[in-house]
Amino acid sequence: MTRRPLVAGNWKMNGLRGSVTELEAMIAAYDTDLQARADLVVCPPATLLASFAAIAVGSGLTIGAQDCHSDPSGAHTGDISAEMIADAGAGFVVLGHSERRADHGETDALVRRKAEAARRAGLVAIVCVGESEAERDAGRALEVVIGQLDGSVPETAAGENLVIAYEPIWAIGTGRTPSEGDIAEMHGAMRNALRLRFGAEAERIRLLYGGSVKPENAGAILGLEDVDGALVGGASLKAPSFIAIARAYL
Ligand code: PGA
Repeated sequence: MTRRPLVAGNWKMNGLRGSVTELEAMIAAYDTDLQARADLVVCPPATLLASFAAIAVGSGLTIGAQDCHSDPSGAHTGDISAEMIADAGAGFVVLGHSERRADHGETDALVRRKAEAARRAGLVAIVCVGESEAERDAGRALEVVIGQLDGSVPETAAGENLVIAYEPIWAIGTGRTPSEGDIAEMHGAMRNALRLRFGAEAERIRLLYGGSVKPENAGAILGLEDVDGALVGGASLKAPSFIAIARAYL
């Protein structure tokens, strides 16, 4: 079973129109060797989705959004539907990031509905899960993360429509990462949970690690069994660091 590696950049609430120079540098560096080895996705803020997607056409690099509403349209001021994201030319959407779970009260049930909406619109969902530091210290990391995974991943999940990102909350933006053993243990547990639910399809669902991934640690983390790529925040804002992470696959 070979899962194609995926390196996705989550720009969060960063990026103005002038940031297109970073996207262009990423596209220029995403050469045929790298394209042969790994998928590359950039998730800018919603204001840049359509312009970035237009620039990325034909480059092999795919644009993604950072959230969507679960309905296709309607009276939801300020929200954006999965269909709108697809219409803007994007192919992915990050869902249930811990910052959205914390800032907007997103629950597993809501994330699951959003993942179903993403599939309905033909987008690939990147569903995020991860424990807090207190939960890890209490020895509850596996239980918490597998519970989130069970609750957030819909029955329709398949290799071509869903990716899972394990992002320990305490590792996001802190420069701290779990040990390689802890990452491997979590990814193995997530794969087993998927096997119990989806059978052979579990081998096709990509599992990303996220949280302080940098060029310096990418090789070791991306080389772990059942780690099929990375969701990168801070280091994805600039082309040299983002591309250096993806080049761990060369
Ligand atoms: P970070 O963010 O790489 O800046 O730690 C990761 C994320 O939140 O997706």
